[in-house]
Amino acid sequence: MASRPSERFVWAVDTLALDPTDRVLEVGCGHGVAVSLVCERLTSGQITAVDRSEKMIEMAARRNRAHVAGGRAVLQTAALENADFGAERFDKVFAFNVAPFWLQPKEALEIVRRHLAPDGAVYLFWDARHTQPGRARDLAARLSERIRLAEFSVDQVLVKDLRPVAAVCVIGRPY
Ligand SMILES: C[S@@+](CC[C@H](N)C(=O)[O-])C[C@H]1O[C@@H](n2cnc3c(N)ncnc32)[C@H](O)[C@@H]1O
Repeated sequence: MASRPSERFVWAVDTLALDPTDRVLEVGCGHGVAVSLVCERLTSGQITAVDRSEKMIEMAARRNRAHVAGGRAVLQTAALENADFGAERFDKVFAFNVAPFWLQPKEALEIVRRHLAPDGAVYLFWDARHTQPGRARDLAARLSERIRLAEFSVDQVLVKDLRPVAAVCVIGRPY
């Protein structure tokens, strides 16, 4: 049986404030814990989740077998930069601790921009495990800089005290 999801995923999916009809994209879904939580909140909506690691997608698929079978979740082994989303437009795109958004934010967010619905938003989450205790706000500021670099506006910056470490979220929209 799947273990209880960690606090950070519950917080992240709460933060998305999903509408049951939302079209959602997760980049770098790892084990697919957030995918499960998103699926529980969707009715006619759908989540597409990509990860460049085949092993991660296998694990995410195992965890979300019923959601995939029911068409609620679509999982793809692909790096963001090579993924084929066709004409799909997403209401919400999110990623938790996924390096390209830190290392190549312009490139990664340009791909996101092309696949956002007109009122769509991107939610970038990072945990503060490599940040000095009490400095999560600095991490959020650095993440915000990266979003602005890619010509997205920063709508909201959240800092959440979680166990074992704090996490941040920056919500952005393309100009
Ligand atoms: C640190 S893990 C985080 C996994 C999950 N989001 C979490 O918070 O537990 C980063 C994940 O992003 C994936 N990843 C890294 N670069 C990627 C890219 N360019 N496109 C898609 N997935 C990527 C990795 O394979 C890995 O599964």
